[in-house]
Amino acid sequence: MNTRLSVNINKVALIRNSRPGNYPDVIRYALDCEDFGAQGITVHPRPDQRHIRYADIPLLRQALRTELNVEGYPSPDFMELVLRNPPEQVTLVPDAPDVLTSDHGWDIPEHIDFLANTIGQLKAAGIRVSLFIDPDPAMIEPACSVGADCIELYTGQYAKDYAYDRESAVGNHLLACKLAVNQGLRVHAGHDLNLENLGYYIHRLQNISEVSIGHALTVDALYVGLANSIEMYKAKLVSKL
Ligand code: PXP
Repeated sequence: MNTRLSVNINKVALIRNSRPGNYPDVIRYALDCEDFGAQGITVHPRPDQRHIRYADIPLLRQALRTELNVEGYPSPDFMELVLRNPPEQVTLVPDAPDVLTSDHGWDIPEHIDFLANTIGQLKAAGIRVSLFIDPDPAMIEPACSVGADCIELYTGQYAKDYAYDRESAVGNHLLACKLAVNQGLRVHAGHDLNLENLGYYIHRLQNISEVSIGHALTVDALYVGLANSIEMYKAKLVSKL
């Protein structure tokens, strides 16, 4: 399977926001990512707009030539934003408003009506919907039942455990991924993926359609340049180990 790389540009927006003005220009940056081989652009507008701002979304929507993936908690403001500027994909994340970064997936049964209703609205607008979940096999059936098209497996714990025991770090992911694929869901992955842990993950899971990577890819770009960083991450997506 070809795994697509969606570059998360939140960190670049964070640098822009640290001073008045529009430097770096995140739209230009997103287009450059595409020119350098990114197959999608991910943004995660948070309620305090400390990274990407709501006002960036219509501009990105208009400018991008690949795919826009907008992640976030489906608050009324978020829903208005994505329904007004429909991206190709929305990834629903159960983040509290003040969280530093996403650190867990949905407990789908606990929010079953809310998620089914939210996903219904997004799909009626022609948007593909992904649900951010922990690598918990028990979440796959509920993900189908609420109408998700895809799941995104939270890889934060995998990234922590990788250094100690990568075989067991990937265990639940393998199971959840297999079940999801059997149910016809697309499987994505994201959080804390980097040049060290990405190749093994892709090689073991085999069926990952998309990864969204921001933090490490942006940091690596400081050392090797954006074009090289994107190329190095894409090389990991076809790694044979
Ligand atoms: N997926 C989700 C749901 C996220 O919230 C984030 C971080 O914004 C990522 C993927 C990307 O994580 P990282 O920046 O560690 O690559």
